[in-house]
Amino acid sequence: MKQGTWYKGITMLAVWLALTAVPLAAQDGSFKNGQLWPDTEGKHINAHGGNILRHVDTYYWYGEQRPDRGYTMDGGIAVYSSTDLRHWKNEGLALQLSAEPGSDIERGCIMERPKVVWNEKTQRFVMLFHLELKGKGYEAARVGFAVSEHATGPFRFIRSTRLHAGRWPFDMTEKDIEAAKQTNAAAWTKWWTPRWRREVQKGMYLWRDFEGGQMSRDMTVFVDDDGRAYHITSSQENLTLLVSELTDDFLDFTGKYNMVAPGGQNEAPCIFHRGEDYWLICSGCTGWDPNEARMFRSKSIWGPWTQLPSPFTGIATGYRDMPANKTFGAQGTFIFKNDTTYVFMADIWNPRHLSRSLHLWLPIHFTEKEVPVIPWTTETP
Ligand code: DGJ
Repeated sequence: MKQGTWYKGITMLAVWLALTAVPLAAQDGSFKNGQLWPDTEGKHINAHGGNILRHVDTYYWYGEQRPDRGYTMDGGIAVYSSTDLRHWKNEGLALQLSAEPGSDIERGCIMERPKVVWNEKTQRFVMLFHLELKGKGYEAARVGFAVSEHATGPFRFIRSTRLHAGRWPFDMTEKDIEAAKQTNAAAWTKWWTPRWRREVQKGMYLWRDFEGGQMSRDMTVFVDDDGRAYHITSSQENLTLLVSELTDDFLDFTGKYNMVAPGGQNEAPCIFHRGEDYWLICSGCTGWDPNEARMFRSKSIWGPWTQLPSPFTGIATGYRDMPANKTFGAQGTFIFKNDTTYVFMADIWNPRHLSRSLHLWLPIHFTEKEVPVIPWTTETP
């Protein structure tokens, strides 16, 4: 290589590094929003779209272990442990991809938004996750179930499925069911018109997928104070959320489910229950790009849900100055209750290098009327 070319190459590399580098947070445990978060080995925590579970005296952080390039999985679901929410030890893979060709979770599938919960009755850890089968993009739209006796796994994959084949939402009237049956998704070549949206609200995609089962993409799991668990997912082409009750062992659906905000196009559902209110904070659907969050309130897990303005306020100073109406550049993944504090956990996606997507944790504040407010802060709770 000529000296000039060599020099030019080094200069370009230096410029590229300066432009793309994100500072690594200090290893004293002081994570900062908008920076890389090192684990106890100094590597950025590669657990995305996941959740935190506190079990006995330890916190476990589960999430998508993303490859540096591409969207398909080459490892599985990661788990980290911590006793202080600051120092996270990489515990390896909680759920590994299968080496068996044809398995639902074979290498090349997509696993997203894993949520692990503790089942008091069976004394097992249960994981639900969004699964896309190998080679099918995002069309399979299934939910996967896995179980383990140990928080760090290994989790055993049980099965994946679509939802509620042959069942109507429990609260749909005969009249509503008849109206849904009159819709015909195949007839609509042009989406996003007011008439198309009305058909969606009538249950056009619910009816289209009635026999084969409902789609399930972005999802979360919520365990209520009485120990009942619910799966909340973005269904019907990401247009309508479904809330579904899980069986006592959390390994199946009871069959009871209903729709939230039909046609509202909500994904990345995050939920918590405080006092008399259930709160649902979702995003819109713009792929990996951030958008304005949506918030819903209800007195019951089964609704009715009322939409309120986004709870985010301020500007993410120090991190590309992302405003509140872009959820500070992030998309929610879970609301974690730590004693009396509620923490909104989100991913600042980096679609070119998903493993380097950043984490965002913001404490939820409440107004005098007990409505959530989430201001920007660099400091993590
Ligand atoms: C947004 C979702 O929330 C993510 O989990 C992922 O599925 C991306 N879309 C894919 O574009």
